[in-house]
Amino acid sequence: MPVTDQRMTEPVMGPAEALSELFTPAGKHHPYPLYDALWELGPVIPLGPAGMLVLGYDEICTALRDSRFLVTDAAVHRTTGMNEHSSWQCFTKIMMFSNSPDHERMRRFAGWAYAPRQVAERRLLAIRAAERWTSHLATLAGGGDGGDEGGDGGPVDLVEAFATRVPITVTGELLGIPDADRMPLRTAITATTTAFEPVFDRDELLPADAGMDVLVDYIADLVRERRRRPGDDLVSAMVRDRDTAGALSEEELVASLVMFVIAGVQSPSDLIGNTVRLALDHPAEGLRLTTDDDFASAFITEALRIDPPNHVLTRAAATDIDFYGHRVAAGTRALLVLAAANRDPRQFTDPATFDTARKDSRPLSFGLGPHYCLGAAFARMQVEAAVPVLLRRFPRMTLAAPPTYRDQLVTRGFARMDVALGS
Ligand code: HEM
Repeated sequence: MPVTDQRMTEPVMGPAEALSELFTPAGKHHPYPLYDALWELGPVIPLGPAGMLVLGYDEICTALRDSRFLVTDAAVHRTTGMNEHSSWQCFTKIMMFSNSPDHERMRRFAGWAYAPRQVAERRLLAIRAAERWTSHLATLAGGGDGGDEGGDGGPVDLVEAFATRVPITVTGELLGIPDADRMPLRTAITATTTAFEPVFDRDELLPADAGMDVLVDYIADLVRERRRRPGDDLVSAMVRDRDTAGALSEEELVASLVMFVIAGVQSPSDLIGNTVRLALDHPAEGLRLTTDDDFASAFITEALRIDPPNHVLTRAAATDIDFYGHRVAAGTRALLVLAAANRDPRQFTDPATFDTARKDSRPLSFGLGPHYCLGAAFARMQVEAAVPVLLRRFPRMTLAAPPTYRDQLVTRGFARMDVALGS
């Protein structure tokens, strides 16, 4: 059967138009019809001599497992001058943007911090954070908080008042970031993630650079403080490990901790937003989420599939590669569109339908292969713990307005989601 027969939404335009639309503000807000249109060109789409878009599930799995496709590390970024920017100076010192052998060295150093036992021990932390911020929402709705919105029982922005606050609280506790310092870091965290978008003009990196400067300064201070007065937190543990084993440079240590803050907050926050939205759109499943712990896992897997927080990963070909019949020249940038692969009709029946009963569903939302997300279990645990707490407390919650998206595709999520709590 031709693959296009199974697409749920009719392509709204031709592939060429879809491609030029994809990284525009409108395209970033509504990318799924564009992926459908691009699918007309097949699972692998050459983009001139040095670019390639990959939409197919199997094709992306192959690329992510193939060591000839490298992450865009410091060497790659030096060739484009991106390394002159403080955002990329920091990002290229972390495992996500390092290749072998640095990648293994860094992953070995920090891997324990997000291992299953650690994650299980943090579940209570996530539940407490969710309870704290649902109480905050109730206060906003009841008018007693003195905040600048919602105090009259009107709509509240769930992104600001809950989705961001839960992961920032959990990660803040973990790293020993004082409560009062956490929310002020939020704007800087989101700003740094704009560095992952394709850059057409280098000035577009300035907000990410400014955000990164704030985070690097903050974490470098925290590291100094914990070196003087160690506590029972991840920063103290990593400082101790570095100072005894010396496996990371001081800059790499700070960069790794900055990454824990960024990755620990932004995508989990986006996943909470997407999950709540899906629960409101599918009330029967939303209700089941509040009563059936096992069901939460299936719900989150399907939320990750149908609307992942990260749409695109980038790889650079280290050498000439024959890839599914396409000749990929060394240096070619491959844009791997995870969000399109998650709707590949060869892999998922009825792919545009939200269906929590799917069996053996393995969306690519946390990547695959050596760079598979270190925090996947930690992120899932937080969302599985927090969203039911919210929905139990506000069973009549409804959207007060269509949510708006940030102007980002690589790290995609709601800028704002106004809800009426109905309490
Ligand atoms: C819903 C939440 C999250 C999503 C969707 C997500 C997604 C991803 C994806 C797609 C990758 C692969 C990158 C690549 O192959 O180029 C990745 C890697 C990574 N993620 Fe996450 N992530 C999430 C939460 C977290 C959390 C909470 C942490 C922990 C602090 C974390 C830490 C990392 C790290 C360290 C890597 C790099 C691993 C490596 O290079 O070996 N992530 N993540």
